[in-house]
Amino acid sequence: MGTVIRSSPSMCRKMSHFIDSQDDLIIVELGAGDGVITSFILEKMSPDAKLYVFEINTELCAVISKIKDPRMILVNDSAEHMESYLLKHGITQVDMIISAIPFLVLPDELTKDILMAGKKMLKTGGNFIQMHYVSSIKKMYKNIFGNVHTYFVPVNIPPGYVFRCVKE
Ligand SMILES: C[S@@+](CC[C@H](N)C(=O)[O-])C[C@H]1O[C@@H](n2cnc3c(N)ncnc32)[C@H](O)[C@@H]1O
Repeated sequence: MGTVIRSSPSMCRKMSHFIDSQDDLIIVELGAGDGVITSFILEKMSPDAKLYVFEINTELCAVISKIKDPRMILVNDSAEHMESYLLKHGITQVDMIISAIPFLVLPDELTKDILMAGKKMLKTGGNFIQMHYVSSIKKMYKNIFGNVHTYFVPVNIPPGYVFRCVKE
């Protein structure tokens, strides 16, 4: 999981803040947990947008599946398989990726595979949004995307950071 408590409304709002309902029609969420951020994302999305949710934990997927929204496609699989899954379903490019995967506790190789797959699928100018509880890891995102904007979210347990990278 990488945490013991689900994200606060404040963190969920920040994670979904950058969605442009006009432009972001294909959104991918990675590491949805029980779907707490998912609901905020769906609230900001336009009626004809689609949200592909990747969550590796089957029990949590059962909880997420209680969200009855035809725009949500729930995938009980690891984020490293996003590219093959999306391509198989006719999606060659996505507008935004929103991730709460705890990369700090994942093997480096897996982290790199997921981030590179995300970067590859993201459209030029698209946002990759990631939450963390420490800011020191932001170097990793700078190395991959060439830029990273940091936002501190104090009202969360523990207080956290949202990183926003734009694919150049
Ligand atoms: C820190 S929790 C975040 C849950 C929720 N989004 C929130 O903010 O409260 C991280 C989630 O990432 C999921 N996860 C971990 N590795 C994953 C992977 N490789 N692919 C997809 N989901 C993964 C975990 O099962 C867990 O539900």
